[in-house]
Amino acid sequence: MKALILAGGAGTRLRPITHTSAKQLVPVANKPVLDYGLEAMAAAGITEVGIIVGATRAEIEAHVGDGSAWGLDVTFVHQPEPLGLAHAVLTAEDFLGEDDFVMYLGDNLLAGGIGEFVAGFERARPTAQILLAQVPNPQEFGVAALDDAGRVTRLVEKPADPPSDLALVGVYLFTSRIFEAAKSIAPSGRGELEITDALQWLIDAGEPVDSHVVSGWWKDTGKLDDLLEANRIVLDATERRVDGSVDDASLAQGKVVLEAGAQLVNSTVRGPTVIGAGARIVDSYVGPYSAIDAGCVVTRSEVEHAIILADSTVTDVQRLEDSLIGRESTVAYQPTRPRAYRLMIGDHSSVGLA
Ligand code: TTP
Repeated sequence: MKALILAGGAGTRLRPITHTSAKQLVPVANKPVLDYGLEAMAAAGITEVGIIVGATRAEIEAHVGDGSAWGLDVTFVHQPEPLGLAHAVLTAEDFLGEDDFVMYLGDNLLAGGIGEFVAGFERARPTAQILLAQVPNPQEFGVAALDDAGRVTRLVEKPADPPSDLALVGVYLFTSRIFEAAKSIAPSGRGELEITDALQWLIDAGEPVDSHVVSGWWKDTGKLDDLLEANRIVLDATERRVDGSVDDASLAQGKVVLEAGAQLVNSTVRGPTVIGAGARIVDSYVGPYSAIDAGCVVTRSEVEHAIILADSTVTDVQRLEDSLIGRESTVAYQPTRPRAYRLMIGDHSSVGLA
């Protein structure tokens, strides 16, 4: 069994962050989303891993290296354009060969890992197997219709009238039959080779496509709200660990992770929250569900429910919430007259002013 992790794509829904970096490397609880996927592969006993990379290939390759940090043997496969998930599979045909493989979307997070899913597939060995999750809003997902035995009878993208509340999660298991399917379909209305179309092709050809419903939570981190939610869920499960320094005037309450070299100076931090190595929180309050990455400095400010990437500064800001701040950014109150917002923001940014 091999694995194919998809870490290309356009990432338009996470602009402007994705103008300068890969969305799979955006941190959740200060750890890149992709790392959770790599850990899931290793935990499932899969070592031969192909990673699809696109425009952000240099950054992904530099981060993952040869994969040995996770006990994996990683091969990078370059997809020149993000032409769809089934196109990504075809791009990796040489790497995958005749082997069965798990395909994993590199911006997805799955609480329970994939061990059970892989074991089920190896027992029954259908032509393909999809992972499903019950969702309250199936209209927004790819949705599966199942027969009584849990076999997939139909797949529909964003249906107005969903046949079930079972949405496709970004993890799939395939035999090499998927290549014929992916070569037989045409691009969809949005110009992509859709994996749902390739799966439907298999079903129509009479091939068995099984399903497995996830027991724990699952999150696609491709949008800000979902990313913040993933951050909340992961932080909720962290244990308190204070390796940094807390001065006498400061409090670290509850599940706070304070990495080595981080400093709390005259500040209150309330968990679940993680503060990265070397970050400084000075005369400030950091509230629950914040992930402040290495090297950040928060001064005379209040931050809650936010993800702040490495080496950014927040100064004299009354209250910052529900936010994602890119690397080496500066957010500061300026007392100069005239009183005005002075912004330098990247393309496709979104700013909410109180
Ligand atoms: P998506 O989130 O569906 O697509 P996207 O990354 O292009 O994002 P957006 O819709 O915001 O523009 O992709 C799921 C995962 O698969 C993600 O990790 C990117 C990856 N991917 C590829 O590697 N190649 C592709 O051709 C596509 C479409 C996605």
